[in-house]
Amino acid sequence: MDFRLTEEHEFIKQMARDFAEKELAPGVRERDEKQEFPHEAIKKLGELGFMGVVIPEEYGGAGLDSIAYVIIVEELSRVEAAVGTIIAVNNSLYCCCILNFGTEEQKEKFLKPIAGGNGLGAYSLSEAGSGSDAASLKTRIKDDGDHYIMNGTKMWVTNGANASHYIIFATIDPEKRHKGISALIVERETEGLKIGKKENKLGIRSSDTVELIFENARIPKANLLGKEGEGFNIAMQVLDNGRISIAAQAVGIAQGALDAALKYSGERVQFGKPIFEFQAIQIKLANMATEIEAGRLLTYQAALLREGNLPFAKEASMAKLFCSGMANRAAVEAVQIHGGYGYLKDFDVERFMRDAKITDIYEGTSEIQRLVIAKHLKNDR
Ligand code: CAA
Repeated sequence: MDFRLTEEHEFIKQMARDFAEKELAPGVRERDEKQEFPHEAIKKLGELGFMGVVIPEEYGGAGLDSIAYVIIVEELSRVEAAVGTIIAVNNSLYCCCILNFGTEEQKEKFLKPIAGGNGLGAYSLSEAGSGSDAASLKTRIKDDGDHYIMNGTKMWVTNGANASHYIIFATIDPEKRHKGISALIVERETEGLKIGKKENKLGIRSSDTVELIFENARIPKANLLGKEGEGFNIAMQVLDNGRISIAAQAVGIAQGALDAALKYSGERVQFGKPIFEFQAIQIKLANMATEIEAGRLLTYQAALLREGNLPFAKEASMAKLFCSGMANRAAVEAVQIHGGYGYLKDFDVERFMRDAKITDIYEGTSEIQRLVIAKHLKNDR
């Protein structure tokens, strides 16, 4: 066992950090304030191969491994968590879903361009009435020869306003619960698909979150992922994978908060010395640093298991559960170390605090992660 990063991983880490500091940091506060999507940055991230990190080169991706991927999500989130969200959804929820469950034709048509940064992917499971209880979704598909007719409204769709392609989970019959759900690739230009309300969010504000409305939208059966009725199973497996990237995002937010608090505590003078010299501040910083390292190791562990094609769902949920709580604690402490200044929009730590909260909620709440972990514990007995 070797805890050091390889030379290649160190190189990728530096590259992602340089990108974040040069391309994201200058506009991050303004984009947060205006809820402005980082179009330029996402285009450049596509050119770097960061929109399809683990996707093989033959399908338009960078062909890197899962550790490289979590390093990239962490480094981008350390500066702009919303960019972490955008690329995590594109990579884990869209691209990996098609890589794992798509046919050759689907990979050629729907994966290659998106993994290469020529388009953007989204994933839509939730609805107004179905969040944690994902199997209770109501968006309907009706058989119509070589097409399905889709009707219903999806909610909480990250990347939804800017996406070129969506993976939509819909049911042939809500009474069948998870057994009725199918996964379909839907193109943006599909007639009968309308982009609905854009949500005004607490955090990750430069990523967009919208409703999608389907009114008699005709989706070719050729766009079905897996078989009819396999959608819930696909959704769950894709989320197992996605949860690793949310853990990485949380580690990035926490590291950003720690770095800001370290810098500030070295500069801020009270009672005649930098506040870093006071043990009360040192204890906070030491706790933050220790928890971040623990979270990073849990995240790397889940990524390594995935890389080795070993079961990783329990470890992914553990990493997400721990890292999201840890990021919230770290961001609150960073604000506290900044005192009154931490409460102002002139400093980054208030944004870290707002951004951290989502990691507790999306891709399965912390309560759901505990249920998933407990189910594995029960099965492992
Ligand atoms: N992998 C493969 N199959 C799985 C699975 C997994 N991880 N988890 C469950 N399944 C299968 C079960 O084996 C079962 O299949 P069979 O009928 O063949 O036995 C089937 O799915 C139903 O399983 P459960 O009875 O356990 O399902 P449930 O209805 O009780 O729900 C749950 C389980 C864990 C609570 C699940 O609903 C869940 O994860 N909910 C949270 C949903 C979520 O994370 N939503 C986030 C959406 S994405 C997002 O946040 C937006 C964004 O854009 C970022």
